[in-house]
Amino acid sequence: MTEFAQWQGQHMMQCWSPQAGYDPIPVSRTEGCWIHTTDGKKIFDLRSAHECINLGFNHPKVIAALKSQMDQVIYVTDDFAAEPTGKLARRLAELTPGSPNKRVYFAQSGAAAVEAAIKGARLYQYNQMFQEGGLQKADAPGQYPYPYKIISRYKSWHGSTSGASSVSGDPRRWFQEPLTVPGVVFAPEANAFRPPFGSPENFVDENLGYIEYMIENEGGSNKVAAVIVEPVVGSNGIIPPPPGYLKGVREICDRWGLLMIVDETMSGMGRTGKLLAIEHDGVEPDIIILGKALGAYCPLTAAIFSEKVSASFENNIFGHGQSYSGHALGCAGALAALEVLVDDGLLQEVASKGAYLESKLRSIAANHPCVGDVRGVGLFYTMELVADHDSKTPLRKTTEKYTRTIIKDISDFLFREKNVYVPSDKFGIWVVPPLIVTESEMDWFCEAIDEALDLVDKTLSAGK
Ligand SMILES: Cc1ncc(COP(=O)(O)O)c(C=O)c1O
Repeated sequence: MTEFAQWQGQHMMQCWSPQAGYDPIPVSRTEGCWIHTTDGKKIFDLRSAHECINLGFNHPKVIAALKSQMDQVIYVTDDFAAEPTGKLARRLAELTPGSPNKRVYFAQSGAAAVEAAIKGARLYQYNQMFQEGGLQKADAPGQYPYPYKIISRYKSWHGSTSGASSVSGDPRRWFQEPLTVPGVVFAPEANAFRPPFGSPENFVDENLGYIEYMIENEGGSNKVAAVIVEPVVGSNGIIPPPPGYLKGVREICDRWGLLMIVDETMSGMGRTGKLLAIEHDGVEPDIIILGKALGAYCPLTAAIFSEKVSASFENNIFGHGQSYSGHALGCAGALAALEVLVDDGLLQEVASKGAYLESKLRSIAANHPCVGDVRGVGLFYTMELVADHDSKTPLRKTTEKYTRTIIKDISDFLFREKNVYVPSDKFGIWVVPPLIVTESEMDWFCEAIDEALDLVDKTLSAGK
């Protein structure tokens, strides 16, 4: 009986898609890296359920924690304390960079945590400006009275709600326009493969210099509240930061009194081999956003405010809130996930698995002119495909986001012929397996990718 799949196809709104032809595949169970369908197929999830299931599906420790929590407290409001909620807030405060005197706001989606982070940053700047003597610092007191602008980057995605999509450079922002929130300006991304401007040797300095130029021209400390970055760009190309870039952003924020917000929704929870990607750069952010894999099967996300930012709300209202904040069941799952990652040592395995994966991907790429770049960190990799290897011509331009490319054919081939699920995107093949992946599973899916790339090379050379 797969009536439920028909009903889902008929009545559920599928994300980012026209609804005609929505035909979801009925699933009977999930386990580890695998999705079992009702018709007996076993499919490898090479995008970890959109990066939500870093521990693989149905990790026994998390399932046990969820089951046991369900018999105790599932949810109470924040006037009450639930054991997993308090413990998780404490654990996150301790595990993340900087003083543990932080406060955590719990939400239910990455976008909702981003909203809280942006609002928190603006309110922090408001509190600073209106504290005793604050307004005297303003160099243009007759104007809008506190810093409110957010600097983001063109190649970024922070979620689909109004505020979150407004700070997203990704073309999905265009669906929100013209009702995007005001006060957002975009900086260029720092992409070593495709520096948006400047020379390949100096693009980091030139990029940082441009951010500083933007701040100056947007009104400086009187007008700009924060800079938001994905420490490793996710949806827009899996772009690790070039050396020195994130430290440079931190220094700029310090110089101008801006808050540095890092969105670890996709890069956090061990994906890059550290609990947070920002740890690779030794940078202490002011606000950290966690999502996706944090909740380990439950919708639980967090905006974590540093001691400095939290202190500003001791006697000022944190003007934000949602039902189900601090959901005890989700927090119990997240605590168990952290135990698996940090205490049981899964995190330590990610770097060596990632090195194995990277060497495999590089040797495959060497035989395929359609691969322009292999990049990533930990188990967060991509092969960017190009129409022409030497000129690095992209398969499609940003303005052509909704046109079909050969990447869709690859994901269809991998799915139909090889039982590998890797939803296509605009730049290439995502290689983002659950962190529990084994070497033999990596060998197996790399062989499938190799075959898929043969098809791409043939098609592209036939078209020349
Ligand atoms: C970096 C980043 N931030 C925020 C979001 C939004 O998360 P959600 O889809 O849970 O709202 C995403 C989703 O892909 C993301 O990658």
